[in-house]
Amino acid sequence: MSKIAWVWCAILLGVTACQKQEQATERQPENNAEIISAEIVDKSQENADKSEEKDAFGIPSIYAEDNRPPLEIRTHAFKKIQQDMEGMAKVVNGEMPYDPDKFLEQVVEFFGDAHEPFHYFEAEMPPEDKRGKSRDTIWTDEDGFFDQQVKFAERSSEFLEATITNDLEKIKPAFANLSQTCKACHDGYKVAD
Ligand code: HEC
Repeated sequence: MSKIAWVWCAILLGVTACQKQEQATERQPENNAEIISAEIVDKSQENADKSEEKDAFGIPSIYAEDNRPPLEIRTHAFKKIQQDMEGMAKVVNGEMPYDPDKFLEQVVEFFGDAHEPFHYFEAEMPPEDKRGKSRDTIWTDEDGFFDQQVKFAERSSEFLEATITNDLEKIKPAFANLSQTCKACHDGYKVAD
C-alpha cells in the first residue's frame, strides 16, 4: 500500500476511533463522528462500485469512466475543491453563521472531492494533457509533488478532527493550515495566475 493510501486509511480509522470514544462516554447519541464516518465509507463504496481502478490515495476516482481529456477533468476537479473551500471559508470568516451539522456536511463533501484532481497527473500523459496550469516540476520532481499531496491529506485529516470537536476556535486554525497546503503546492508546481 502506498504512503498516501495509509494517510487516507488513517483518516478513516481516526474517525472510527473518535466514534467509539463518543459512544463510550455516551455524550451525544447522534454524534457527528458517526455520521461522517458512515458518509465517507458510503461514498468510498459508491466510488468503488463505479470503478475497479484505485489511485495513489487508495480511493477510486468518480471520473474513471469519463472520456474527457485528463486536463479537462482535473481542471473541473480543482474548481470543485475551490468551491468547497470558498463555502467553508464563509463560515470560518464569520460571513455565514456556524451551524455544526451543516458545516460537517460541507467538510464531508470536500473530503469526497479532495483527492480527485490527483488521479489525473501521469508521467505517461501526452504533452497536451500536461499543459494547463501545471509546471514541469510535476514531472521533473515527482517525489516533491507527491510529498505535497501527502501534506495536503494530513492537513485535511487534522481539519476533519477539528471539525468534529464542534468548536469553531479549533476549526479556524485547522482551516488556515489546510489552505496553506493549497498555496504551498501551487507555489512549486502550478503556473501563477
Ligand atoms: C499537491 C499539489 C496541489 C495541492 C495540494 C493543491 N493544488 Fe490546486 N493545483 C495544483 C496544480 C499542479 C494545478 C494546475 C493544474 C493544471 O492545470 O494542470 C492546480 C490548479 C488549481 C486550480 C486551477 C484550475 C484551473 O485550471 O482553472 C484551482 C482553482 C486549484 N488548484 C485550487 C486548489 C485548492 C482550493 C486547493 C486546496 C484545497 C488546492 N488546489 C490544492 C496543485 C495542487
